[in-house]
Amino acid sequence: MRVLGIETSCDETGVAIYDDSQGLLSHKLYSQVTMHAEFGGVVPELASRDHIRKLIPLIEEAFREAKLEKGDVDGVAYTSGPGLIGALMVGASFGRSLAHAWGVPALGVHHMEGHLLAPMLEHAPPPFPFVALLVSGGHTMLVDVAGVGEYELLGESLDDAAGEAFDKTAKMMGLPYPGGPMLSKIAEQGEPGRFVFPRPMVDRPGMDFSFSGLKTAVRNAIAAEAVNETVEQQTMADIAYGFQEAVVETLVIKCRRALKHTGHKSLVIAGGVSANSQLRKRLDELATSMKSQLYYPRLEFCTDNGAMIAYAGLQRLKAGEHSPLSIDVKPRWPLVDLPSINTNGEAS
Ligand code: KG4
Ligand code: ZN
Repeated sequence: MRVLGIETSCDETGVAIYDDSQGLLSHKLYSQVTMHAEFGGVVPELASRDHIRKLIPLIEEAFREAKLEKGDVDGVAYTSGPGLIGALMVGASFGRSLAHAWGVPALGVHHMEGHLLAPMLEHAPPPFPFVALLVSGGHTMLVDVAGVGEYELLGESLDDAAGEAFDKTAKMMGLPYPGGPMLSKIAEQGEPGRFVFPRPMVDRPGMDFSFSGLKTAVRNAIAAEAVNETVEQQTMADIAYGFQEAVVETLVIKCRRALKHTGHKSLVIAGGVSANSQLRKRLDELATSMKSQLYYPRLEFCTDNGAMIAYAGLQRLKAGEHSPLSIDVKPRWPLVDLPSINTNGEAS
């Protein structure tokens, strides 16, 4: 089976073709970040319009790169939620219409299931069951994963997502959108221990997160260090280090609890923040200390992309799932609402 995947839930237009027996045949990505950077964040209406502009050329390129005729697929998968409603509508309308024109089934895919299954695109995929830490711009979740669609939520953020905390903190530091990757780059020059910020909610049992208080602590530190409204470069790097350390350590503590609670020996990290090298390093150390194994996707599949949607869509299309002709998107959509697919490959 071969599936075209389309991702348009936020500010990246992603298109890919995944084949059950041959793997990933092509993958194309267009990022809108420079357009949104001018406004300090994603402007939903501009995002939708840009997806419209880029989707057809990217789909054409994806078929060319895969050396396939247009429409030479057995199904079309598109992100149908969660995300920005207008942006989702673009991918869903295109995807649903293409599938209809080509006479193949279409399926709306859950964006976070795409992230969760992204490590399956790698040569050594994680074996079920595993614990997944999903850390993106919109979500922070710890999930007990028994199989595709068999998800038990262990914990989630009660306020800001980890990526959102990175981006908002970076904005306070005067960095352009999206500041997460740049903040972590600056932190590399930071002096350990000069700024120690609170590790939110680690003194309470459970696996939920809260990152909004941390943002306030950083704001106060910046205000205290500012002279004539500017903070010296080294001090800024030290603050960035302290912030990243607090986020990473909090995530590590909760992952340790999740591995202990489930008894699983595999830990998966996915979503944009899983690109963070300090987080990868520290979770790798945690996994080793617990005789477990850490899995993550290659960098380009940590952030939004079409390959993860094609892969997730293929698993469900193969099991016989498909969406009706109506075009339906869900800006909010709990991951645990997804149906499981059983081992015979049938949706249940
Ligand atoms: O998964 P993603 O592309 O989009 C959503 O589904 O939200 O994640 C984007 C998020 C942004 O908040 C971005 O700042 C963050 O991932 N991010 C990082 C790094 N790379 C991306 N945060 C920290 N360190 C990084 N290296
Ligand atoms: Zn995402």
